[in-house]
Parts: sequence; structure tokens; C-alpha cells
Amino acid sequence: MFSSLSTAVVLSTVFSSVLCTPLSDQVAALRLDPTAVDRVNTLSLDKQFIFDFFNPPAGVTTGAAGHTVTATSGTFPAIVGNGVAMTVGFLGPCGINTPHTHPRATEINFSVNGTLRTGMLAENGARFIVNDLPPGSMTVFPQGSVHFEVNTGCEAAMFVAAFNSEDPGVSSLAQRFFGLPIDIIDATMGGLGIQQVEGLADKIPDNIAVGTDECLKRCNIARPPAQPTAQHQPRVSGNAFPTNTVLSAPVSSQPSAPASSNSTMPTSAPPASSASAVNSTVPASSSA
Ligand SMILES: *[C@@H]1O[C@H](CO)[C@@H](O)[C@H](O)[C@H]1NC(C)=O
Ligand SMILES: *[C@@H]1O[C@H](CO)[C@@H](O)[C@H](O)[C@H]1NC(C)=O
Ligand SMILES: *[C@@H]1O[C@H](CO)[C@@H](O)[C@H](O)[C@H]1NC(C)=O
Ligand SMILES: *[C@@H]1O[C@H](CO)[C@@H](O)[C@H](O)[C@H]1NC(C)=O
Repeated sequence: MFSSLSTAVVLSTVFSSVLCTPLSDQVAALRLDPTAVDRVNTLSLDKQFIFDFFNPPAGVTTGAAGHTVTATSGTFPAIVGNGVAMTVGFLGPCGINTPHTHPRATEINFSVNGTLRTGMLAENGARFIVNDLPPGSMTVFPQGSVHFEVNTGCEAAMFVAAFNSEDPGVSSLAQRFFGLPIDIIDATMGGLGIQQVEGLADKIPDNIAVGTDECLKRCNIARPPAQPTAQHQPRVSGNAFPTNTVLSAPVSSQPSAPASSNSTMPTSAPPASSASAVNSTVPASSSA
């Protein structure tokens, strides 16, 4: 952290107390300031009002197909009190920012130099929205709406997302859902089966993830055999998987599919282009 600033500390001990303050301490001090004027004066260096997305001090989220950089009150103290935040995304060819929501902010999202397919599903009852964003255009994702974005091009693409909260937060749908207790997931999936749920959960890749089969084929990119999965919700006793035996009695009331089937993503995913690689085995017994 602050490695790029460390030379400045050496050059000028006058500023050292400011520069060495951890981000959280700076944010705490700013939150105690009684007025906006005090906040401006608390940040005594002009450069503290700059966040460099190409060389960020923090706020990086990385997956197999790109990364995002986020400037919020957690990574950029000058934002405190201003009610805005920004994310810049660097999507590799076919990279996907997997479905997620922002619990505390509406997002407007500007495509800089690539064509990005966006999908958005607001609350229950709202219709599904899909768009291609060519360079120079933007779209809006209402607060709390589920949305995803795919770079449909064969070159890297950059987007800029602005938020009307300094702490918009992010909830990644797949990671959240599969972080719930195993029996709850199983029940929600109509009694899919514990081992099937485990197979699905194992595969959820970190953001930015490798995108659709259609894009990979068109761009002549091989799907990597595995992607990092460090963004999974940690398992504790309350949401742990049972030890890897055949279904224990209380978990699933249904005689679910035999353990031989190991599907990947749920078939409900709209761009169902993954049929080639996958035996999508939702048991025929899943009558609602
Ligand atoms: C903004 O949209 C692009 C695609 O249009 C997407 O890749 C990106 O994830 C979006 N940004 C955020 C923060 O959701
Ligand atoms: C878009 O901009 C990013 C960041 O500068 C760059 O990495 C990427 O290669 C650019 N893509 C195109 C198609 O110009
Ligand atoms: C499902 O597949 C994953 C990876 O391919 C594997 O780690 C896991 O053990 C499998 N689960 C079952 C129940 O076969
Ligand atoms: C897919 O299912 C078929 C029939 O159930 C089976 O023969 C085949 O081995 C399965 N393929 C994979 C990859 O699991």
C-alpha cells in the first residue's frame, strides 16, 4: 500500500504523518470532521484528492479474465462525505463481470473502448433488459438490480462505472447463493442433491471470469481448465458441506439424482451456450 508514495515520505518528513496513516484511520478522522471544510483541510496534500486507477493503492478485484479497480470511501478517503464512488473495469477478451447487485447504489456505466453486453434484472416482476454498449455509450443499473456485463470482443475493453454512494457495496450472486447452508440451497433447487450442489459450488469462478463459449470460439480462445475460486463465501459450521458421503437423511427429502451426475451451472442461465462442455443434469424429478 502506498508504495508509490513512499519516496515522497522520504523526501518530505513534513508530510509523513499524513502519508503513513492507514486508509481506515484517515477515513475515521474524516468522518469525525464536523464540516466539509474541515474534511478538505484534513487532507493536507493536493495529491490526496487523486485516485490512480492504473496504479491503485487498494480496491483491486482480479479473476482469470480481467480485473476491476474500485474507488470508494474504503480505498479513497477524499470521497468521504461526497456520496459518490467509481469503478474502472479492465475486461479481457470475452471477460465477464458475473451477475451481481450493488445494495446501496444505482450505477451508471460507460463503455470506453469495447462493446460490452449488459443484462439487467430488477426486482420481481420487472422484465429482463439486455443491451450492447458500444464505445461512448452508457447504461443504468438501478440500485439493487441484478446485472452482468460481458466483453463480447476479442480485445481487452475498459469501462467506467459511477455510483451514487461512497460505499455502494457489491453482492456477487453465485458466490452469495452458494455460500448459504447446503440444505437450503438444495431445497431452493427443488431437491437437486447435495453432491450436485457441491459440484456447482466448486466451479464458481472469481471475477472477472472467462465468458461464454460462443465468444471464446469466435475469438479462438481456449477455456482454461480451471479458474481461481478465492471469492467463495467461507464455510463455517453453519453453512458447511457434509463430509463427502452419500446424501445424509435429513438434508433432502427427495430421492435425488445419483451421484454420478456432476453438472456445472444451472440451466436457468439465459445465455445457455455452455451445453457443449456440460451434462446439465437437473433431475427430471424436480416437479415444483
Ligand atoms: C459496467 O458495464 C460493463 C459492461 O458494460 C461491465 O463489464 C462492468 O462490470 C460494469 N461495471 C460494474 C461495476 O458493474
Ligand atoms: C481499452 O483500454 C484499455 C486500457 O487502456 C486497454 O488495456 C485496452 O487494450 C483497450 N482496448 C482497445 C480495444 O483499445
Ligand atoms: C464435481 O466435479 C468437481 C470438479 O470437476 C469435483 O471436484 C467434485 O468432486 C465433483 N463432485 C461430484 C459429486 O462428483
Ligand atoms: C453425460 O451423460 C451421459 C448420459 O447420462 C453420460 O454417458 C456421459 O458420460 C456424461 N458426460 C459427462 C461429461 O458427465
